[in-house]
Amino acid sequence: MKEIDFTGKVAVVTGAASGMGLMASQEFARLGAKVIMCDVNADALDEAANAIGAAAVPCAGDVRKFAYAEEAAKVAASLGGCDILVTCAGGNEARCCKSNVPFYEQPVEVIDWGLDVNLKGAVYFARAMMPQMVAKKGGVICCLGSVTGFEGDGIGTMYGTAKSGLFNFVKGLALAGGPHNVRALCVTPGPVLTRAAMSGMPTALGRAAETHELVDVILFMCSENASFVTGSNHVVDGGRLCMYQPYVAPKETAK
Ligand SMILES: NC(=O)c1ccc[n+]([C@@H]2O[C@H](COP(=O)([O-])OP(=O)(O)OC[C@H]3O[C@@H](n4cnc5c(N)ncnc54)[C@H](O)[C@@H]3O)[C@@H](O)[C@H]2O)c1
Repeated sequence: MKEIDFTGKVAVVTGAASGMGLMASQEFARLGAKVIMCDVNADALDEAANAIGAAAVPCAGDVRKFAYAEEAAKVAASLGGCDILVTCAGGNEARCCKSNVPFYEQPVEVIDWGLDVNLKGAVYFARAMMPQMVAKKGGVICCLGSVTGFEGDGIGTMYGTAKSGLFNFVKGLALAGGPHNVRALCVTPGPVLTRAAMSGMPTALGRAAETHELVDVILFMCSENASFVTGSNHVVDGGRLCMYQPYVAPKETAK
């Protein structure tokens, strides 16, 4: 296996102010890339980018807006063009919008948030960055899925819907990008300790992942070592999907 080296590469990471997006940004920079860090949380983003240093360029905005993706693409172009896109911005709409009610009671704004951040955010960024990859005759788009994309969620229903949409999205990107040596894939986590609450989710290994256990896979997938990987979904879940998961009705609807 080749040593991973991103020297001369330009990486764009969404959701870069925290969790896996932050650690992936730190690692891209450590391994030689310039990293454009994208997140809606401008203060946390500036702090994170400052801590990384000259290799990091913060670019704050909301991935629900295509104009923001285009702005990030302009920054990437000014650095030589995007080689790597990692879409981490996301979250379960019930948790992020603090709306813990079943789908059939969710305000439409919460439904829109779930679809727009988790699905359209990745679509917009891929649409904005991919022409640069095609022009450079190479690139990789890595979208963060979730096991919820297989399991479903009766409260944050758009989260799983959007994540399963990404599984198909990367297939389309792989077909469009293949002739230009542009790869696309999903890395799909089970529970990851970017939040302490994830420690309670059952897995075959009996624990949640440390953040680096996902970021190591993301970096591998974005490296030359994964040069034949495209159009595929890579589940990194400690065996969660091997386990039988009885459906637990949302508290509000349980009789
Ligand atoms: N942590 C887990 O257990 C887990 C499990 C499965 C999948 N995932 C997925 O992996 C990805 C990363 O997860 P994490 O736990 O590291 O995330 P996180 O919650 O630590 O970080 C998500 C980041 O996305 C940003 N963000 C949210 N809305 C945004 C918007 N509209 N525009 C721009 N940025 C926005 C947030 O500010 C935050 O910094 C997410 O897509 C998540 O759904 C996480």
